[in-house]
Amino acid sequence: MIEIRAVTKSYDDGRPALSDLTLTVEQGEALAVLGASGSGKSTLLNLVAGLDRPTDGTVTVAGTRVDDLSETALARYRRARVGMVFQFFNLLDDLTVIDNVLLPAQLSRVPRREARDRAEELLGKLGIFRHAKVFPGRLSGGERQRVAVARALMNRPPLLLADEPTGALDTASAADVRDLLTTLNAEGQTMLLVTHDTALADACATRTIELADGRITRMVSR
Ligand SMILES: Nc1ncnc2c1ncn2[C@@H]1O[C@H](COP(=O)(O)OP(=O)(O)O)[C@@H](O)[C@H]1O
Ligand SMILES: [Mg+2]
Repeated sequence: MIEIRAVTKSYDDGRPALSDLTLTVEQGEALAVLGASGSGKSTLLNLVAGLDRPTDGTVTVAGTRVDDLSETALARYRRARVGMVFQFFNLLDDLTVIDNVLLPAQLSRVPRREARDRAEELLGKLGIFRHAKVFPGRLSGGERQRVAVARALMNRPPLLLADEPTGALDTASAADVRDLLTTLNAEGQTMLLVTHDTALADACATRTIELADGRITRMVSR
């Protein structure tokens, strides 16, 4: 599903954020990426998400050379092929829950009725249907992250990416999001999780890698 080959990412100065990194993620895996702050975790995620390009090497996702895409093709790739979840949810606070979840379908011009059916199905599945018409500001952190996951899954992406999805949550909400991600992976969703939360990695990951200074220093499979 993901093939990263000899990837280096350098910013203007200093040592590279990622150094000659090679990594393969199979369909159905949940890969957790651990590592200290500044070790390159978000950089790795951003390259897979097509939000940034490597300085060297190749990134292939579901057969597509992501590092090679034009800006237009990248935008389409991000809409259709990956769903992203962030530490601070990144929901639009002046849209209702269901309108947040509908957004990716609208951007992809999915017919209205079909999109609404899909959004309602997801809200039901993720246990937040009763909040469909409220604004995200009214919800707990755990509920907001469920909305963000629903939005990420709206266009049925082959790959779910998450950057510290439990990083801003209290203990109970973090456990809730852990359970959700574990269930989604058990149902076959391939995912790449960047996290400090070893409980998340322990609960959810089929494989865990650790980064230090942009290199893989440890790999543990379940
Ligand atoms: N846009 C950027 N410009 C310059 N340096 C960056 C940028 N993004 C990340 N870095 C640097 O790259 C390294 C890895 O960062 P990052 O991938 O965000 O680490 P992590 O997510 O593990 O905390 C850090 O040294 C960081 O300062
Ligand atoms: Mg980070």
